Amino acid sequence: MCGIVGYVGSRPALNIVIDGLRRLEYRGYDSAGVAIIDSGVIQTEKKAGKLANLEKALAERAADGIGTGTTGIGHTRWATHGGPTDRNAHPHLSADGRIAVIHNGIIENFARLRAELEAAGIEFQSDTDTECAAHLIAAEMRALRESGAQDGPALLAEGMRRVANRLEGAFTLLATDVNVPNAVVAARRNSPLVVGRGNGENFLASDVSAFIEHTREAVELGQDQIVLITPEGIEITGFDGSPAVGKEYHVDWDMSAAEKGGYDWFMLKEIAEQPQAIADTLLGRLSERGEIILDEVRLTDQDLRDVDKVFIVACGTAYHAGMVAKYAIEHWVRIPCEVELASEFRYRDPILDRSTLVIAISQSGETMDTLMALRHAKEQKARVLAICNTNGSTIPRESDAVLYTHGGPEIAVASTKAFLTQLVACYLIGLHLAQVRGVMYSDEVAAVVEKLQATPDSLRTLLSRMDDVRALGRDLRTASTVLFIGRHVGFPVALEGALKLKELAYMHAEGFAAGELKHGSISLIDDGTPVVCVVPSPAGRGVMRDKVVSNIQEVRARGARTIVIAEEGDEDVRQFADHLIQVPHTPTLLAPLMTTVPLQILACEIAAARGNDVDQPRNLAKSVTVE
Ligand code: F6R
Repeated sequence: MCGIVGYVGSRPALNIVIDGLRRLEYRGYDSAGVAIIDSGVIQTEKKAGKLANLEKALAERAADGIGTGTTGIGHTRWATHGGPTDRNAHPHLSADGRIAVIHNGIIENFARLRAELEAAGIEFQSDTDTECAAHLIAAEMRALRESGAQDGPALLAEGMRRVANRLEGAFTLLATDVNVPNAVVAARRNSPLVVGRGNGENFLASDVSAFIEHTREAVELGQDQIVLITPEGIEITGFDGSPAVGKEYHVDWDMSAAEKGGYDWFMLKEIAEQPQAIADTLLGRLSERGEIILDEVRLTDQDLRDVDKVFIVACGTAYHAGMVAKYAIEHWVRIPCEVELASEFRYRDPILDRSTLVIAISQSGETMDTLMALRHAKEQKARVLAICNTNGSTIPRESDAVLYTHGGPEIAVASTKAFLTQLVACYLIGLHLAQVRGVMYSDEVAAVVEKLQATPDSLRTLLSRMDDVRALGRDLRTASTVLFIGRHVGFPVALEGALKLKELAYMHAEGFAAGELKHGSISLIDDGTPVVCVVPSPAGRGVMRDKVVSNIQEVRARGARTIVIAEEGDEDVRQFADHLIQVPHTPTLLAPLMTTVPLQILACEIAAARGNDVDQPRNLAKSVTVE
């Protein structure tokens, strides 16, 4: 939620900040704004709506524009406190006009702080929690100056440190001071922030895509840290003022991975990238001894042998990946596995101890609900293993072990390649557990891995024949409701298909366990209601497949228009399908790697046909860093 960029160097900051915001816009697009320090003045411009509105406003400014200052900050917002208006757009300035602040997160004690500032005579210009921080930093710096401190980067950092210690909640704050050109300071607590190390210039951003064009050298920060960037260096301290060291790393993807590459939408590009993303996630995972290799493991094999129960916590699409994982883990590992919505996990007071393994799945690694579930699990002494797509993000850092999905950057708000790679990671973890615990032999594990390794090619074939699905999507654009049914691993696929349609096409859609429909929801079916039916492979579980076919007949008998996703060779199902989408054969547990893909394309096509912004659906943001 909210994208943040900061730059100091020798080049004009504006273009660098705007380009960075463009790549972070997926994090929120309720408003955008910049502040540039130029010749002793803070120049700001901010506008409600997408970044394009800000760019237009900048273009319409007088000839001198916003100046050529080489220090700047920029923000793209997903509104929390205060509606999405020009007035509430960031940056926010301190009353004396010296300090400009941008913020991602929520300052929970803002009402108290605002009351205190108002009592001191400050007139607020916005309804945001962020504005408090600008006034507070200015006040702290003023007090320090009055007691003899000199203006400069160190004073700005100290002002920020003092304020960070007063704030409750989750925040990344960036601040600049008009009298301190060539410095941007940031504070981080429970909200993403990464530093880009350049040559004579440095960057701050919510994620590396904002500065990848300029540098691939990044520095990971810890929680409760202050970072001061100047053209010459990067200085990190804790909220207590003690010096700290960030973890340096090299980003192994480049700009082209963050561009659309000729596709109309990032989502289409990311759907097309799925075969490669799966292959990359599988790459190098099998050791010479046939064992699965995790990325960072702070757990011993004995720890994994001691596990007597698995909980998977995740949100949205990642939760659906967890639902699929439950079938695989229970089948292969033979231990109970529960899947929980991360936002509900800690309130339910789950029974956790040292022998519980909690698997936290998150593309961004910053989802607050998942992070809080993870922390709750750790407090209860459970071991936590993260599945994540974002190096250096909070969730993997706070976990005992990590398996990274090598999906590359996912820019479209709707998750596609992250989902498939999360599935792959879940399969690998299931196999790893089964092997370590001696329930599967290495050759059995290798046999499944071999099937997994075949999926990228099958998926390429599937993707090459999606024209009918696209045509169907255009045809369904006026439907008022679309239902999805599936059994076993087809059930989470049905849920995922419905989620994609809701979030992109803004249509009513619901996913059901196929057998559950007759217990009430079948009454939704009217003449012509589209029902997408995910049919299991007849080769895997014939009985299950036959049951789904019966469910298809039930809905058809009530007037449904059936869109059937079935395996190639299952010709018998054709007679029950108004539209048949055939997918290549895969073993039953791995089938979601195929069956989900037509549903992604269907949702994308329907949304585009309805004139929606596929990459940035309304009301959403890519990385949900509030609870
Ligand atoms: C839907 C979607 C979301 C995310 C969810 C979790 O297309 O993208 O439902 O899956 O917000 O996000 P991560 O995986 O970043 O924790």
